[in-house]
Amino acid sequence: MGAMTFEPLDADFGARVGGVKLADIDDDAFAELHERWLDHGLLVFTDQHLSHTEQVAFARRFGDLEIELAELSNLKADGSLRPDDGTDDMMKVHHGNMGWHHDSTYMPVQAKGAVFSAEIVPETGGATGFADMRSAYDALDDETRDRIEGLRAHHSLYHSQAKVGHAARPSTDGKVTADDESESSYGGYGFHDGPVSIRPLVKVHPETGRKNLLIGRHAYDIVGLTSEESEQLLGQLTELACQPPRTYHHQWTPGDVVLWDNRRLMHQATPWPMDQPRVMWHTRLAGDPESEAALTE
Ligand SMILES: [Fe+2]
Repeated sequence: MGAMTFEPLDADFGARVGGVKLADIDDDAFAELHERWLDHGLLVFTDQHLSHTEQVAFARRFGDLEIELAELSNLKADGSLRPDDGTDDMMKVHHGNMGWHHDSTYMPVQAKGAVFSAEIVPETGGATGFADMRSAYDALDDETRDRIEGLRAHHSLYHSQAKVGHAARPSTDGKVTADDESESSYGGYGFHDGPVSIRPLVKVHPETGRKNLLIGRHAYDIVGLTSEESEQLLGQLTELACQPPRTYHHQWTPGDVVLWDNRRLMHQATPWPMDQPRVMWHTRLAGDPESEAALTE
């Protein structure tokens, strides 16, 4: 196989990679990909069609996994469509994911990144958006930078899902249920009952040394501000940050794979016709506890 190619996306970040099959890369190729991933924040690969085993094996090259392989789809186990009428908790998770966020900021350790692949895609819609919080930080004026330096916010999946009408609560067996025990209940990941994570609004990336905004839908109640002030400030920052040239929306083709740096980028799902199936596979790279642990206060 010839050399890999890296074609920048039409945004401040990200590159489309050619000349590589992720299922059989060697250590040298991985080392180059890793370096480019830190440079670009997002790498896009087409025509990969990774098996589940291949996806997990590729992801493991980055270290421990927080989530080995999760199906993100609007299909039930029997292949039928989940109802999009407010009764299905998995659909509430999909709707929640349409807000910009970093993964696992609500957990004790924030994720390092993710490998995400497309198996079945709808005819229209269903793009995944990415937004660069490094160039967003760079774009802030001095006054805003001074205002947010040292501020820290709470992050909780209970909080962010409640905003989209998902009243999740832990049940006695530790699984999460909504209002009933029916098949609509989502044994959801991330509704944990430890202390609520607190994270800085400005975070230095552990591998690049660059400052990044750390905001998103899971963030609320900035320490020292009222809930209203917090919501207003976080909303302003998100609006400013998540617009071109700092955004890229990937329209999926089956077989595509993306690899993102979750310490730098936010992402979002976007709507699609919910009478059409969409099946995606998500592997979450575990964050380094040295750099990605939540603050205790
Ligand atoms: Fe996510």
